[in-house]
Amino acid sequence: MRILITGATGQVGRELVDVFSDHDVVAVDHHRLDVADRDAVLGAVTSIRPDVIVNSAAYTAVDACESETDTAWSVNALAVRHLAEGARRVGGWVCHLSTDYVFDGSKTEPYVEWDAPNPVSMYGRSKLGGELELSPADTIVRTSWVSGYHGGNMVRTILRLAAEHGHPTFADDLAVIVRRLVIDRRPGLFHVTNQGAVSWYEFARAVLTAAGLDPDRVNPVATADLLPVRPAPRPANSVLDNAALRLSGVPLAPDFHGPLERLVARLRDG
Ligand SMILES: NC(=O)c1ccc[n+]([C@@H]2O[C@H](COP(=O)([O-])OP(=O)(O)OC[C@H]3O[C@@H](n4cnc5c(N)ncnc54)[C@H](OP(=O)(O)O)[C@@H]3O)[C@@H](O)[C@H]2O)c1
Repeated sequence: MRILITGATGQVGRELVDVFSDHDVVAVDHHRLDVADRDAVLGAVTSIRPDVIVNSAAYTAVDACESETDTAWSVNALAVRHLAEGARRVGGWVCHLSTDYVFDGSKTEPYVEWDAPNPVSMYGRSKLGGELELSPADTIVRTSWVSGYHGGNMVRTILRLAAEHGHPTFADDLAVIVRRLVIDRRPGLFHVTNQGAVSWYEFARAVLTAAGLDPDRVNPVATADLLPVRPAPRPANSVLDNAALRLSGVPLAPDFHGPLERLVARLRDG
């Protein structure tokens, strides 16, 4: 299978390139292919002729999206139209990464794929726009709270230590399930996260525990206290029920504690 991976140097993109290494992968970063440039996308796709485009390119600066709205719409929404158009021209399809931020967080239960989205931030609105550019024959993978060996921004993570609840996701576990969906050629919308819902406060404590450090070093911060430094509102509950995977009998990514211990050990070993 020939696979075009966009956003290939991003946190998830790097894991995708690794996990598809047994396939014919063409990996392009922002510099090689600006997904918001229609001519560039159509040119690249018609010359590469991929069976599938796995799109992990996105404008992921959640707060910056509030002011950089044109960039958010271009990269997160309009670009998906270009990728879908390109895929159609060569008889291929798109596997697209999306986000828990399409929800407003007001639901008390985990969100299933069939819950109505209602994004509260520009990032969430633009990512939902991208989803709407795809057809039922394409695959959409919504994930949440991604951590990985590559990339990562500790300052941003600490600033998110608030009373939000979600499913931590490890980029390598996510990539394995994206691979499975692509190889099985499963279309449709899938929530894909590790299991084990926590608040950011609990997650920070789990990180310290996994590192053999004292979790009491973390103090909870109220979401409201962070508002002055965070232009974009976040959903209070963004726990994604991986219902479509579960009901299809596809094994879910594991509870996050094991992968967290592995990541902490890997980061410590350098
Ligand atoms: N990280 C999370 O917690 C999280 C949660 C839910 C969903 N997701 C979704 O998962 C996917 C991957 O996210 P990630 O964590 O890997 O983000 P990331 O590390 O920010 O990677 C995104 C990549 O997209 C590239 N990019 C930005 N604008 C582009 C453009 N116009 N053309 C081509 N490439 C462009 C970036 O390159 P430059 O940096 O060079 O611009 C970057 O390498 C995204 O769809 C995101 O919405 C992430």
